[in-house]
This record gives sequence, C-alpha cells and structure tokens, in this order.
Amino acid sequence: MRSLFFENLAPEGAARQRIAEKFHLSEENAFSLLAKIGDDCAGAVALLPKGARQPRRGEIKEIRKRELSRMIDRLPENPLLTAPRLSLAGAQSKFAVIRDSEGRYFRSDDEHPTTHIIKIGNQRYPELLQNEFFCMRLAKAFFDDAVEVQLDAVNGRKFLEVQRFDRIKKNGRLERLHQEDFCQVLGLLSRMKYHADGGPGIRTIYRAIMEHSGRKAADVFKLVKMLVYNYLIGNTDAHAKNFSFLHTDRENGVVLSPAYDLLAVDIYPEKTAFHAIAMPINGKGKFAAIRRKDWLQLFAQLGLNPEGTLKTAAHTFDGICDEAQTLAAQLQDDPLTASPVYSKSIDNMCRRSEVLSNA
Ligand SMILES: Nc1ncnc2c1ncn2[C@@H]1O[C@H](COP(=O)(O)OP(=O)(O)O)[C@@H](O)[C@H]1O
Ligand SMILES: [Mg+2]
Repeated sequence: MRSLFFENLAPEGAARQRIAEKFHLSEENAFSLLAKIGDDCAGAVALLPKGARQPRRGEIKEIRKRELSRMIDRLPENPLLTAPRLSLAGAQSKFAVIRDSEGRYFRSDDEHPTTHIIKIGNQRYPELLQNEFFCMRLAKAFFDDAVEVQLDAVNGRKFLEVQRFDRIKKNGRLERLHQEDFCQVLGLLSRMKYHADGGPGIRTIYRAIMEHSGRKAADVFKLVKMLVYNYLIGNTDAHAKNFSFLHTDRENGVVLSPAYDLLAVDIYPEKTAFHAIAMPINGKGKFAAIRRKDWLQLFAQLGLNPEGTLKTAAHTFDGICDEAQTLAAQLQDDPLTASPVYSKSIDNMCRRSEVLSNA
C-alpha cells in the first residue's frame, strides 16, 4: 500500500520513461525515481535525499521569459530541465512554478512550494491547451470551487497556467495541503487508473466518498455533477487519477478536490474510437450511447433517488449551451485564445444537455 501511494506520485507515460532513462533507472521503480525528482509533488509530501540539503533561505529565483520559453521548448524531450525537481502524475508535459501577484514566475525551493502548474501543448492533440482552458473556464459557471486557469504565451509558445488547489496561505506563509488521487485511496497502481484495466468504476468512487469524506452528501452530489459535466463536455478520460481527495484544514477534513484535467477528449475521434470512457455509465462505454435512462439506472445503483438526482443535475446544467457559447465568443475575440475547438465541443454539449432533460 505504502509503495503504491508513492508509485502514484511519479509521472506517467513518456515523461516517466524519459526520466528513468536519464537516471538509468527502471520505469517500474517509481520509488527510486522519486528519490531523484520528488522535491515537489502533488499534495503535502516532498521527498528529499537524506541530510542532503539545508533549507535555503532568502530570495527565490525568478524565471524570466527567455528561460520560460526554453523550458517549454525542451520539456517534451527533457522533463528534468525544470529544476526544481518536480513530480506530478499524468502523461502530459508539465512543470510547476511559484507565481506572484504580478504574474511573475519563480523557481520553488525547499522553503517555498509551487503555486501553479504549467501545462504545455501536445502535437498529437491539436489545440489541447485551448480545449482544456475552455473546459476549465466553463466549469467556473457550475462549480464554486473551480480553479483559476489562464492561457498565456511566451515568445509565441502557448501554455496553460493552472492554480494549485493543494496550497494554502496561512499566516502569510504558503503551506501544502495533502491530496490523494483515487488510485492512492484505493491502493492501486497508476496503470490501473482505467476501469478497463482493473481500476475503479463510479460505484467504487462513490463508496470511498461515503467512507472517507467529511461532507458526504455534498461530495456525492459534487461527484454526480462532475460525472454529468464530463459527459456534457465529452471528457472520456476522467479516470481514477483525475479525481482526488483533498485534506483540508477545515472542520470537514477530507473532501473531494476541485475538478481538474477537464478536457473535451471526444473531439479527437482518433483518441476515442478504440477506447471506452474511463468509467462506464450503467455499463456503457461510449458517451454517444448514453440515454436518460442510463443516468437514472446509475443513480439507482448508487442508492440515490434517480428522478430527483437527474432533475437536479439537468437543472444545474440547464444553461450550459448558452454559457458555453458566450464564453466561446469572448475567447474568439482574442487572438491568444481564439480556437476552432470550441464550436466542436459546444455541438456535443448542446445535444447532450437535451438527453438529460428529455424523457
Ligand atoms: N489544480 C491543481 N492543483 C493541485 N494538483 C493538481 C491540480 N491539477 C492537477 N493536479 C495534480 O497533478 C496531476 C497531473 O495533472 P493533470 O492535469 O491530471 O495532468 P495530465 O493532463 O498529464 O493528466 C493530477 O493527477 C493531480 O494530482
Ligand atoms: Mg490527469
């Protein structure tokens, strides 16, 4: 169990492969990888070599534009360029920085954790950053804890800046909050994140919420909202590592984290043609096959009031079609954020919101 917790902190896919090659380690040996790159991880853990360093005090080092664009250029080939050493799960290229109130970026150190994640594009998925930006921004209309995201560019290279929800300011100091994704919660290897690979389904996630959450009813409804939102935007990739518990310092303690990694994956048919959605809905693996009755069945399987839950969910997302169109129009107005992907995902959204409300 302990080693699986750590295994899930390491990067995945190509990023893990490259780091392993660099250090002459096996990809399988996540713990050894973390010994090299675990200075800043998801949540409140930091893995540092024994006795290796004294906390450095003083100024944190600014990352200037030229350096930032160099990091973005070289990151896919060399994920280690981005000192401080950092380990975040996921397959997309990313690093993390400290951002100040004026929007300047700094390198973190042992004393100062990172505050924002920077995600960069992927040639295999055109407009990936605009897509995620749109889905995350749109989420702000429906989730009161949605995280702040900015789409920005440096020397012509676009990047997405995502505010970390596992950081909190306390007495003027930034502290880490612990988070665990659902592979960690359930003691599963990261490669089991998909239901089809032995990972959890919706019922298992629901049960874990009922067991551990400090605000069960609110988190169950938040889960329902996340599932429905993923359906509406076409996020087929909402697997066990894209849901987490956050250990807050508030009275209710462990709660479902804000939504992250929201992406309209099914506008890339080459990605979804051969893959089922990460967690089936009433046994169905394709969003296109989901009908109103599948949602009712799913809610019944979870022991919820099917009609009542669906009615509330449909009502919550009633305005998504208009909301998305307004947001897209705003984004199209700015050359930085203009993109052809918005209209593709809006088509799906409008059609699917009808599925929820129609008998
Ligand atoms: N806003 C955030 N705050 C804190 N941690 C985050 C946030 N977004 C993502 N993470 C953590 O980083 C990991 C990788 O991020 P994610 O956006 O899922 O990347 P990928 O697209 O590569 O899967 C997540 O599994 C989660 O643990
Ligand atoms: Mg992810």
